[in-house]
Amino acid sequence: MNSFRVTLDKNLSFSYDIYIGYQILDRMPPILSKNGWARRYFLFLDDRVDALHGDRALAILKERGLAAEKIVFPAGEDFKNIHTCTELAERLLERGADRTSALIALGGGVVGDLTAFVASIYMRGIPHVQVPTTLLAQVDSSIGGKTGVDLPSAKNLLGTFAQPKAVFIDLAFLETLPEREFTNGLAEIVKYGIIEDPGLLGDLKKAIEAFRSKDPGPLERIIAQCCRIKKGIVESDETDRGLRRILNFGHTIGHAIEAESGFSVSHGEAVAMGMCGAVLLSERLKYLSSLDREKIIAAIGLAGLPVCIPASLDTEGILRGLRRDKKKEGDTIHFVLLKKPGMPFLNGGVSPSLVREAIEALKE
Ligand SMILES: NC(=O)c1ccc[n+]([C@@H]2O[C@H](COP(=O)([O-])OP(=O)(O)OC[C@H]3O[C@@H](n4cnc5c(N)ncnc54)[C@H](O)[C@@H]3O)[C@@H](O)[C@H]2O)c1
Repeated sequence: MNSFRVTLDKNLSFSYDIYIGYQILDRMPPILSKNGWARRYFLFLDDRVDALHGDRALAILKERGLAAEKIVFPAGEDFKNIHTCTELAERLLERGADRTSALIALGGGVVGDLTAFVASIYMRGIPHVQVPTTLLAQVDSSIGGKTGVDLPSAKNLLGTFAQPKAVFIDLAFLETLPEREFTNGLAEIVKYGIIEDPGLLGDLKKAIEAFRSKDPGPLERIIAQCCRIKKGIVESDETDRGLRRILNFGHTIGHAIEAESGFSVSHGEAVAMGMCGAVLLSERLKYLSSLDREKIIAAIGLAGLPVCIPASLDTEGILRGLRRDKKKEGDTIHFVLLKKPGMPFLNGGVSPSLVREAIEALKE
């Protein structure tokens, strides 16, 4: 077994350990028992993850004497909404979950966001633990305590901040991940490469080869580097008021594309398109050189992600989505733009006509 720990600052409210390694799920029960976060654990997972990993995960918890049971719900972004939350809360209540209970999110970003949201509001808040099973969730969504669900017209519009008690990143889960989902996760790795560590852009090919040959070694190093970057940013701005907003690179246009497509464009694909939009805006506003824009777009393409916006998506619909962005202030939409790889900044002054032009220019 190959694992290590990243420990966050114990003085801060979001302090928790992130365990990264191959087959580290086995290490979770003793850690849960030792910390005594709950008397009963409810394993929240979607039906696809349940079919692949649910019984084994439950058995691991029970074999070590923990009181645990599964609560399974349908997979997919379509179910990341308030109705699912109400239903999950009812099921918790039926099974007698109380303030001495905790939730374990076993799944991708949808399961993680939904579980954490329910945990943060059920009986005014119970603890939760994250066990991310997609690449996207392992490098991004399981860390940082953003919880939430979608409204039909806007992503993540209902949500809270609720930090997990611990995050267990087990690379063994990636062995069953479809390649399309892996590619989605690469979008967030590209994002870290663009905003913080351009070296990660050079690691993309290695990551794809490691995934295809089921070699956890190189992936563990890349995932750990992404977690370190996210941890550093979250530590300095837990509630997204300043620096943390740079993590939104590509997400402003991306979220609007996702919603406009009725969520048929996946999160990772939409973020890739949004990153192309952000670098194009950066170039047009003369912050970024054309050469750097080309290099970044090439890296996005190399990851197998789209570099164009589908022509079928309505530009005005995407612009309407941008106006609903929860990070806008008054009429100002904040875009994270780029001076060069590793040098992002928050810009509030992009005119709607320039955004319209950039979206049109990216249409296939
Ligand atoms: N909270 C945050 O900070 C944050 C950050 C980024 C993204 N997100 C959210 O994350 C969500 C996207 O997450 P996602 O891409 O992980 O999607 P997802 O959770 O829908 O998972 C994608 C698919 O993969 C399946 N799956 C999961 N693990 C698997 C495995 N090991 N093997 C086989 N199949 C598996 C799932 O059942 C699902 O069908 C979006 O809702 C987005 O808003 C949140």
